[in-house]
Amino acid sequence: MHVSEIFRNNKKWVAEKLAISEDYFTQLSKDQSPEFLYIGCSDSRVTAEDLMGIEPGQAFIHRNIANMVTSIDLNVMSVLHYAVDVLKVRQVVVCGHYNCGGVKAAMQSVDMGILNPWLRNIRDVYRLHKDELNAISDEGKRYDRLVELNVQEQCINVIKTSEVQRAYKERNILIHGWVFDMRTGELKDLKIDFPKILENIMEIYRLD
Ligand code: CO
Repeated sequence: MHVSEIFRNNKKWVAEKLAISEDYFTQLSKDQSPEFLYIGCSDSRVTAEDLMGIEPGQAFIHRNIANMVTSIDLNVMSVLHYAVDVLKVRQVVVCGHYNCGGVKAAMQSVDMGILNPWLRNIRDVYRLHKDELNAISDEGKRYDRLVELNVQEQCINVIKTSEVQRAYKERNILIHGWVFDMRTGELKDLKIDFPKILENIMEIYRLD
């Protein structure tokens, strides 16, 4: 694809938006007040707005390899702080996906260089749930399950932050764990029991 095509696409998109609403970009440039913070994978096949059916302005978005929420990653922590404390999003989504290359790499005994410390966080998820995962004999199913458990653990990492703990107490912020299935196009809600998890982990992770 030549970049000139991108710029042609952009002009077409502007025209389409203006045809629907003359002041679309005037409104868009005023301010942002997104309802969602979306944390997803960088995978090119998993685009947040498309799979959620939302428009610019509705979600503050962070994507990295395998949708990780790592406490010493200044990038994701800055995004989370800004979205929860400043933009005051009402819902936080961690969205993983089946066929995730990052999760697959963490299941293999391969030296991936600079990716090793990043993927080690996923190996830690495997270790935490080793009994359940090792009991699944089908490798594909085990891979799918690790994708789900990784989303669950990253939701827990979201809950461990002081920003989210405060927002939960003050305004009942919602946390969701989802998995996108690119084999069908469907989004699956893992229905993570946030209040129960909170109760379980707060003994150790409560910050105030
Ligand atoms: Co991925």
